[in-house]
Amino acid sequence: VLGCICIYSSHRHSLSHEQMQLVITFANEAAIAIENARLYEETRRGLELKSILLRELHHRVKNNLATVGGILSLQRRRTKSPEVRHTLAESVNRVQGLAATHDLLAHEDVSEAKVEDIARKIVGVANANLRPPEKHITFEVEPCPIVIPSRAVTILALVLNEMVSNAIKHGMVGLKEGTVTIRGHEKDGMVIVQVIDTGTKLKQLEPGEEESSEGLGLSLIKNLIGDLGGRYALWRDGSVGRTVAEVRFPLARNRSQVPGGHGAVQGLPTPE
Ligand SMILES: Nc1ncnc2c1ncn2[C@@H]1O[C@H](COP(=O)(O)OP(=O)(O)OP(=O)(O)O)[C@@H](O)[C@H]1O
Ligand SMILES: [Mg+2]
Repeated sequence: VLGCICIYSSHRHSLSHEQMQLVITFANEAAIAIENARLYEETRRGLELKSILLRELHHRVKNNLATVGGILSLQRRRTKSPEVRHTLAESVNRVQGLAATHDLLAHEDVSEAKVEDIARKIVGVANANLRPPEKHITFEVEPCPIVIPSRAVTILALVLNEMVSNAIKHGMVGLKEGTVTIRGHEKDGMVIVQVIDTGTKLKQLEPGEEESSEGLGLSLIKNLIGDLGGRYALWRDGSVGRTVAEVRFPLARNRSQVPGGHGAVQGLPTPE
């Protein structure tokens, strides 16, 4: 029983068959409305709980990643070999970049984030971990309020990390100072994010020509951005003396719109 209905009249009489049918129809409508309101409230509470759980999950993932980063950092400090120290510094940067992104997701109301916020997190981490102390590098993050879903957030964070790391590591070779700018915009349903550095070392590539030397960075970028149905390009804009690394991917807010989208970061190698 969802409720009861009372009918009052000014004079005493029994309800006719038609009147009774009318009351029954009204009672049925009222019952549907009460049930809908109950279901709506249940769904709203369920969503609220889901969003709290999701935020808690991001928070825990962030803490675990921060612990992994801390362990690698400790190992780096104890290592004598400069080559191993360098490799560990890059790993610390990758893990901390990802942790910073989960921190971002843990604070948002829903599991999505703005491109400019992701870029700021990554730049902050790279500046702390990778910038050689003797170099003066200015980082600029241009406003880009495009909101992307959580899966694209973690992928973009990893990809940006590699692009910014390359801008510092390769772009700033032989320079005492330089600028690294992150710029993003949306065009024809595609999100386009560029990391532009004032480095001069990259040789002029012909249009469509690919960078021949590929390290872990480019292979990660290409695999991850490929999972989002996007692509990567690197070129030197000689006219303004800038090197541009660019990724573009479709802006799919709905998970089912993302090719191969089931929530995992697929470009990463899976554990044996
Ligand atoms: N911003 C850039 N300026 C100049 N060269 C670049 C830039 N980005 C990439 N490159 C070139 O692309 C190559 C491949 O980059 P990739 O990130 O794959 O490897 P890596 O940085 O040398 O090593 P890893 O990323 O594994 O530490 C670099 O060796 C470099 O020659
Ligand atoms: Mg690299």
